[in-house]
Amino acid sequence: MKFFIDTADIKDIREAAAMGLADGVTTNPSLVAKTGRKFRDVLVEICDIVKGPVSAEVTAVKHDEMMKEAREYAALRKNIVVKIPLIPEGLKAVRTCKEEGIKTNVTLCFTATQALLAAKAGASYISPFVGRLDDISTDGMQVVEEILEIYNNYGFETEVLVASVRHPIHVQQAARLGAHIATCPLSVLIQLSKHPLTDSGLAKFLSDWEKVPK
Ligand code: G3P
Repeated sequence: MKFFIDTADIKDIREAAAMGLADGVTTNPSLVAKTGRKFRDVLVEICDIVKGPVSAEVTAVKHDEMMKEAREYAALRKNIVVKIPLIPEGLKAVRTCKEEGIKTNVTLCFTATQALLAAKAGASYISPFVGRLDDISTDGMQVVEEILEIYNNYGFETEVLVASVRHPIHVQQAARLGAHIATCPLSVLIQLSKHPLTDSGLAKFLSDWEKVPK
């Protein structure tokens, strides 16, 4: 299973990379806005740290304008994946990107049928937002399960990138279902490593070690 980090914060990306948990990076306009920096500068800096796929989201909503942004981002670094929203114009842009050899991550996916359309358009990745579904009392992981079943039925090569991950249980469920990737904020990556028995066990080992003659 691959882990991507869901942030545009360079410090967090370096931290995840140091733990071997940055197989790729996903960004979105909200995450970029938090940095207060120009997107292109941030993008290039991220690509200098992480060699895996780095998602850069278009902000246009019409095919031609989306393609203009997609070509600009894709030309910046070879590991850039263009993130495109799951709307009809976006599906057209995904098809054009596929023809031009530009990788795409289709975002804002909330149903298995949306994911089916993205795969048919030739998306490299599909991003179901599990946390935002859970927020409205809909089982986000159920959608991931349905997408995996459908993709498996037809042999689609689109990778399932579980997004809007809020806690370790989302990651555990994604892994059990065989999702290809989970993209997580650094806080969730850290939480995954935590257990109170690990902390108390370590504290005991360290205090006992003080009693060992040196
Ligand atoms: O990058 C998209 C996604 O992971 C956003 O997550 O927490 O804003 O729903 P969240």
